[in-house]
Amino acid sequence: MSLSTVTTIEALRDTLKPWRKAGNSVAFVPTMGNLHDGHLQLVEKAKECADKVVVSLFVNPTQFGVGEDFDHYPRTESEDAKKLDAIGTDLLFLPSVSEIYPINHRTSISVSGLSDLHCGKTRVGHFDGVATIVCKLFNIVQPDLAFFGEKDFQQLTLIRALVRDLNIPVEIRGIETVREDDGLAMSSRNGYLSADERLAAPALYRSLCQARDRILAGEQNYPALEKRAMLSLREAGLQPEYFSVCRQSSLMPASTNDMELVILAAARLGKTRLIDNVYFSKTPL
Ligand code: PAF
Repeated sequence: MSLSTVTTIEALRDTLKPWRKAGNSVAFVPTMGNLHDGHLQLVEKAKECADKVVVSLFVNPTQFGVGEDFDHYPRTESEDAKKLDAIGTDLLFLPSVSEIYPINHRTSISVSGLSDLHCGKTRVGHFDGVATIVCKLFNIVQPDLAFFGEKDFQQLTLIRALVRDLNIPVEIRGIETVREDDGLAMSSRNGYLSADERLAAPALYRSLCQARDRILAGEQNYPALEKRAMLSLREAGLQPEYFSVCRQSSLMPASTNDMELVILAAARLGKTRLIDNVYFSKTPL
């Protein structure tokens, strides 16, 4: 293996120091592991844009709520390391929970106005956990660029706001969602789906595409469109949590004057929670 793995912040900084001294740019891909092609695509893009690529693998406890899947979240470190090595990742940061959150850790970051919308309504505290770990990882790695998947559109929007508001000197790149052949967005949690649930799961992306196509065809009644989509998801055997036509910049409900839109949706299928989105520009009629 040519991939180096470090588990402490000190070892990470010792590895990065000579790279920086030699004038290398550093791209960073934070992950929680159980890597699929979506993650590997982030690493490939990172490699195109920087001299060195650092990937972190840390299942962050503070972004899981009570009763969520922290204990069962798939942990596949050695397979992940092989995949990262095969595509030429330079450094894997694999810290323990106590390395990141020592016993006296007190600080938490909240991106108000974004943390409590959509996924934040049911996953209370989730986005504070995300904002805090991402900010910490940025301070630890100090990358020039960082890569995130667009599947987690709300997360990406929140991270952009975090970086802007706290003047963190990192450029954020969002990378297109990687999908299975039937449209299902790749996710580490897809592994929880039973065979029957896996067959039903693409309904989420289908309903998003249908709603987008109706808007592009001139539909202006967004609440009615959302209601119909929720109904069709239930008919497909999913339990939708939300289906919202939003303004891309703020993730607030879109008005018919808004041109840059994103439709965000989340649904449960058995014990699996799926999220997805489509974003697009409306052309003036
Ligand atoms: O998207 C994820 O995998 C996580 O939320 C992230 C950004 C690695 C923070 O733990």
